[in-house]
Amino acid sequence: SNILVLNGPNLNLLGTRQPDVYGRETLSMIEADCIKYGGTRGALISCLQSNHEGALIDAIHAAKSGQQGIVLNAGAYTHTSIALMDAIASVELPCVEVHLSNIHAREEFRHVSYISKVAIGQICGFGSRGYIMGIDALLAHLDMCDD
Ligand code: DQA
Repeated sequence: SNILVLNGPNLNLLGTRQPDVYGRETLSMIEADCIKYGGTRGALISCLQSNHEGALIDAIHAAKSGQQGIVLNAGAYTHTSIALMDAIASVELPCVEVHLSNIHAREEFRHVSYISKVAIGQICGFGSRGYIMGIDALLAHLDMCDD
């Protein structure tokens, strides 16, 4: 399977951004781990990050041709973006929502996720490991669907 690992705003700053909340791993390290893990599972992982809502929407549309699913950390757009939610719903690709931090244990405004309304499920609070768990969950879902 081909899987898109898509990251939203400010996640390019991982490693130095509030490391007590988000860990010390950089996005490049996380992406390299995802690609490596995908390899062990026979999945081809493509990684993309953007700080721009429209670029994320374009990437979701583009995923429709060639990708079987999306692992998405939409950053703060999680809590605000009906447009991102609609994009996921429109392409009808299975999506696993990932957050490094446990958004439910944080400020009230982080408890709401528009992405959750269209995702298969959400993984949060496990740091960078959440991306690997997300890929695993997506592959399990895809397996379940094709037999
Ligand atoms: C985040 C949680 C969001 O609330 C925050 O805006 C982020 C990162 C996470 O991975 O924990 O940018 O998605």
